[in-house]
Amino acid sequence: MAKDVIIALDFPSAEETLAFLDKFAAEERKPFVKVGMELFYAAGADIVREIKRRGHKIFLDLKLHDIPNTVGRSMAVLSALDVDMCNLHAGGGTAMMKAAIQGLTRADGSRPLLIAVTQLTSTSEEVMHNELWIDRPLDETVMHYASLAAESGLDGVVCSPLEAGKVHSVCGEGFLTVTPGIRFDDASKGDQVRVTTPARARELGSDYIVVGRPVTAAQDPVAAYRRCIADFCAQ
Ligand code: C5P
Repeated sequence: MAKDVIIALDFPSAEETLAFLDKFAAEERKPFVKVGMELFYAAGADIVREIKRRGHKIFLDLKLHDIPNTVGRSMAVLSALDVDMCNLHAGGGTAMMKAAIQGLTRADGSRPLLIAVTQLTSTSEEVMHNELWIDRPLDETVMHYASLAAESGLDGVVCSPLEAGKVHSVCGEGFLTVTPGIRFDDASKGDQVRVTTPARARELGSDYIVVGRPVTAAQDPVAAYRRCIADFCAQ
């Protein structure tokens, strides 16, 4: 599986998003981009269609979590938008994950990649124990959810690059690790706590890195993106 860099388009409107993407108009390699809840709720399916029309691959990061029937039917709608990657919460259970795969699968048998969120990185072990009443250690819970995702036929999980090796050893080398929390070593961390450089993420075995502000807030976003590609995708 080829490694790639996914730029998180964390913008509040279609206008800002398209103005940002205009900077890449002359690039031969159209960046793989992530559309999250903020942009999707603001600009809807039209922004997805426009970004696809411009030749980008899209990770639609909407983190579905509902009863299996609703998730399956909703995934069918997202699949029809011709996105390349979708996600859901593994906490919805294996019936929901299997329904999602069914819903995503198009008439010709193709489908977007489907990636699971295990425990959100904002959930501490303390919150997991005291609020969610899950008594197991956090890292065991993450690996258990990853295994359930793999058994349900999903393609991978969102995780830290620091967890990529363990996910691969538990779920198989071909099970994808999509990893945010990326920073250049000469930049500030912002609100991310545990960060990894693109080069280190490659060494740790990440399959895709998700990079937001180091590219979107850079003085020269195209140069920052090229630096990510050079450091992460280098052989
Ligand atoms: O700007 P930054 O590089 O921190 O953006 C990272 C992107 O990855 C954001 O869209 C954020 O929501 C997403 N993400 C994350 N940590 C997770 C899951 C998703 O940072 N555990």
